[in-house]
Amino acid sequence: MILVTGASGMMGKAVLHEVAKVAAKTGENYRAMYRSATEAAKAPAGSSTVIADFGKKDSLPPALRNVTSVYIVCSPIPQLIELEWNMIDACVNAGVSHIVLSSAMGAREYRKSFPSWHRRVEDKLKSTKISFTILRPNSFHQNVLTYYAPSIRSQGAFHASMGNARVSFVDARDIAVVAAKALAGGEHSGKTYELNGPEALTYAELAEKITKHSGRDVQYVDIPPEVQRKALLDRGMLEWQADALLDLQAYYVKGKGGNVDGLLEQLIGRPPITMDQFLSEFPSEFRPHVEVQALADAATA
Ligand SMILES: NC(=O)c1ccc[n+]([C@@H]2O[C@H](COP(=O)([O-])OP(=O)(O)OC[C@H]3O[C@@H](n4cnc5c(N)ncnc54)[C@H](OP(=O)(O)O)[C@@H]3O)[C@@H](O)[C@H]2O)c1
Repeated sequence: MILVTGASGMMGKAVLHEVAKVAAKTGENYRAMYRSATEAAKAPAGSSTVIADFGKKDSLPPALRNVTSVYIVCSPIPQLIELEWNMIDACVNAGVSHIVLSSAMGAREYRKSFPSWHRRVEDKLKSTKISFTILRPNSFHQNVLTYYAPSIRSQGAFHASMGNARVSFVDARDIAVVAAKALAGGEHSGKTYELNGPEALTYAELAEKITKHSGRDVQYVDIPPEVQRKALLDRGMLEWQADALLDLQAYYVKGKGGNVDGLLEQLIGRPPITMDQFLSEFPSEFRPHVEVQALADAATA
């Protein structure tokens, strides 16, 4: 029995989808873990679900009943260290055989920001006797929708302090395929996979691609980190979050995020999804919403 945690989140949902696909062929049982019944109600048809919370230790043993393999993922918050530690302890107590851990690029060496938090969880996992696979993905394609589409919709531009840094964006759905395979353990046991996408793009090149797929002129505007920090805080972002984001950007600016290799393709058995393929699925996400466009048209009529 496989347990997929974080099943309401972007990564966990994609993993659940893949696990369900594999289970349809192999007959493997799986369970999806949610924190709320409202989210659990959205589980794919036929999925078994359980309500539990890494922060509520008593809720974890029932979620782990008869479970042999677990996919662990948590929101990118500083508390993920303690929360995922709780889950690892619960897995040890429940006799789980294999854990696939969602970590992040940079966990090998970067002692700041999200990678440093993930590293502490990796170290904890390795201190147990449970067999593991650690996944360290680069930045997701999906971030472009989450972080940049809103200002592109309203201003035709997105802002950051990335300079000419290159990012080997990777699709969360490809990472999910690796996670589903790794949950079987076997050849993936004891492995740490650094997972990069198929091309390393600067943000200016990303803007060109968004322009091509959305049919509107989109600019990347490079701004100093302190200006970006102020803008993030003005937009309501919490201080720790803005600092973690800027620290991660600094890592990319040092040239650490533009690696391209064949590992992902080898693991998933097909070419990884490209940024062009991803953007072609969401052209309207970068255009002004209809009502906003109608107002703009009315104002210029
Ligand atoms: N975005 C990137 O480019 C990128 C790249 C590399 C690695 N990562 C890593 O990938 C991970 C997942 O990212 P994501 O975008 O999928 O995050 P997400 O959408 O925020 O999903 C996080 C999941 O964790 C669950 N969760 C939070 N607190 C929990 C708790 N106390 N107990 C149990 N479950 C809890 C959430 O449940 P609720 O819905 O109930 O809150 C949600 O299902 C992060 O750790 C991030 O650092 C991200």
